[in-house]
Amino acid sequence: MCQNAPDAAETPESPSRRAFGRVVAAGAAFAALAALAACTPEGDTPAPASGTGVPTGSPSPTAPPSTGSPAAAPTTADAGPGPAASASASSPAASSPAAAAPGRQYSLTDPASPWVVVNKHRPLSPEAFVPADLVQPAVRLAASREAALLNSTTAAAARRMFDDAAAAGVVLVLASGYRSFATQSATYNSYVDSRGRAEADTASARPGHSEHQTGWAFDVGDGGGACSFQPCFAEQPAAVWAKANAHRFGFVVRYPWMFHEITGYYYEPWHLRYVGIEAAADMRSRGVATLEEYFGLEPAPAYL
Ligand code: DAL
Ligand code: ZN
Repeated sequence: MCQNAPDAAETPESPSRRAFGRVVAAGAAFAALAALAACTPEGDTPAPASGTGVPTGSPSPTAPPSTGSPAAAPTTADAGPGPAASASASSPAASSPAAAAPGRQYSLTDPASPWVVVNKHRPLSPEAFVPADLVQPAVRLAASREAALLNSTTAAAARRMFDDAAAAGVVLVLASGYRSFATQSATYNSYVDSRGRAEADTASARPGHSEHQTGWAFDVGDGGGACSFQPCFAEQPAAVWAKANAHRFGFVVRYPWMFHEITGYYYEPWHLRYVGIEAAADMRSRGVATLEEYFGLEPAPAYL
């Protein structure tokens, strides 16, 4: 049974100045602390690469406190069956890394593919893509209208994950799901109006560049709303549980701590992205933190 929680006003669809300020402040704090081409579905192999999981040019992700380091602080010895070559930030754009994820392969460019990689270098194509199978997941909601929708695969996986979390005593709520191109435009522009373009680009994707438009990504809250979309969410049970368990349901924390030089965004412990159980589990076991590294793609810290 779906429920509506009261904290939707804090969602990125209409970011309050207060919430925005916290996000930007967090970005500044983080900064202070730190510093494939297309494949066809089931045809070509995008060849995920093993990675060190540590971005070049940033301090050790183990340096900051409990807000979280990348899951494994891995080494190449953790890389499992992959190749010796890695696709770390220091060797970006590996166009033909030798490793392959287990099982079925998917397109990295088709927005309907669970492996589509969208970032500041990889806009959605078509720009106005709308998932064909948007549904409202049977989970607890802190969002309404289109923001309560996900594509059908993600919705089913989210329900399984939210149910498993609940069984463990952890409340997850869907805080922000699908966003149309128009909604992302409004969201991004509100950030720009509040803080300027440069700071907006550290927290909100420009229209046509957001995973939320694919239906494969969503933001979670914990139902209380106290730390929604704020750095302190990383220490809430919902985020701690998701970081440790999301891979079991096919999700990754898409914008991990200290990987902004690769992903283009500061840590978003609330933003989960469906890539399928095999890929998510493979990333975790190899200690690869980002999709860019996993798929041998160049880092995308800024727009081209
Ligand atoms: N906050 C993420 C990057 C988005 O706007 O899609
Ligand atoms: Zn998000």
